[in-house]
Amino acid sequence: MLVLGIETSCDETGIALYDAKRGLLAHTIYSQTDIHAKWGGVVPELASRDHVRKAVPLIDEVLIKAGITCKDIEGVAYTKGPGLVGALLIGAMLGRTLGFALGVPTIGVHHLEGHLLAPFLELNPPAFPFLALLVSGGHTELVKVEGLGKYEIIGDTLDDAAGEAFDKTAKLLGLGYPGGAALAKLAEKGDPKRFHFPRPMIDRPGLDFSFSGLKTFALHTVESHGNDNQTKADIARAFEDAVVETLTIKCRRALQQTGFRTLVIAGGVGANSALRHALHEMCKKHEAALYFPRLEFCTDNGAMIAYVGCQRLMAGEREAFGVEVFPRWPLDQLQGS
Ligand code: KG4
Ligand code: ZN
Repeated sequence: MLVLGIETSCDETGIALYDAKRGLLAHTIYSQTDIHAKWGGVVPELASRDHVRKAVPLIDEVLIKAGITCKDIEGVAYTKGPGLVGALLIGAMLGRTLGFALGVPTIGVHHLEGHLLAPFLELNPPAFPFLALLVSGGHTELVKVEGLGKYEIIGDTLDDAAGEAFDKTAKLLGLGYPGGAALAKLAEKGDPKRFHFPRPMIDRPGLDFSFSGLKTFALHTVESHGNDNQTKADIARAFEDAVVETLTIKCRRALQQTGFRTLVIAGGVGANSALRHALHEMCKKHEAALYFPRLEFCTDNGAMIAYVGCQRLMAGEREAFGVEVFPRWPLDQLQGS
């Protein structure tokens, strides 16, 4: 089955074509970063309007890249939630309309299920069951993944998500929006010994996270030490070290608790190379296998939506008549096919 995937949950328009037998045929991602940067964050109305402008030309682009026409499409998948309601509605409306016009089935996909299963786009995918660390702009979760749709959240953030903490700290260091990747780049020049940030909640039992205190700690450090370039780099380094070590400790604890031997990293913060390195070392020591998708499939993309849509459509799932989106949609409400 050949499925068109449409991702419009936030500020990236991602379009892809995934075939059950041949794998990923083509994909493209358009990021709206430049549009939102001057406002210091995503402006929902501007995001929706830009998805309207970009989605159809991007579909034409992937069809050309894959060397097929829209008549070859056998199913359409789009992100149904969670996300910005207006942005989601653009993808849902487009997906449902295309499905109707082409006479093919459609399916609304959970954005986080897309992130969780993105490693299946790679040649050497993990086997179920596995533990997943889902670290994106809006979520920081440890998830027991037993199979498609069989997800149990065993750790969650009590306040800011890891990506949100990266973005807020980057903003106070004057790195613009979204600042996660820029902060990581600056941290490379930082002195790891100059500042020590706390590792939140590691001395408590359990697998939950709390990252909002770190940005406050960064703010106080800026206020007391100034914000010359070297100090900013040192703060970025101390912040990144604290997030990475906290995530690594909780992943180790979760592997021990579940007895699972496979860890999957999903979501935008999974693009962070310090985090990848630390988890790689931890997994080596504890004889666990580590999987993460290629960098472009860590952040939002259409390929992960096309992949999940393909699995669910092949299992016989279909979207009900009408257009429905879920801006809030807990991952553990999903069911297997
Ligand atoms: O998964 P994603 O693309 O979107 C959501 O579903 O939220 O994640 C975006 C988040 C942003 O907070 C961004 O700053 C962060 O991922 N991010 C990074 C890096 N690249 C993206 N954080 C740290 N280091 C990076 N290299
Ligand atoms: Zn995402």
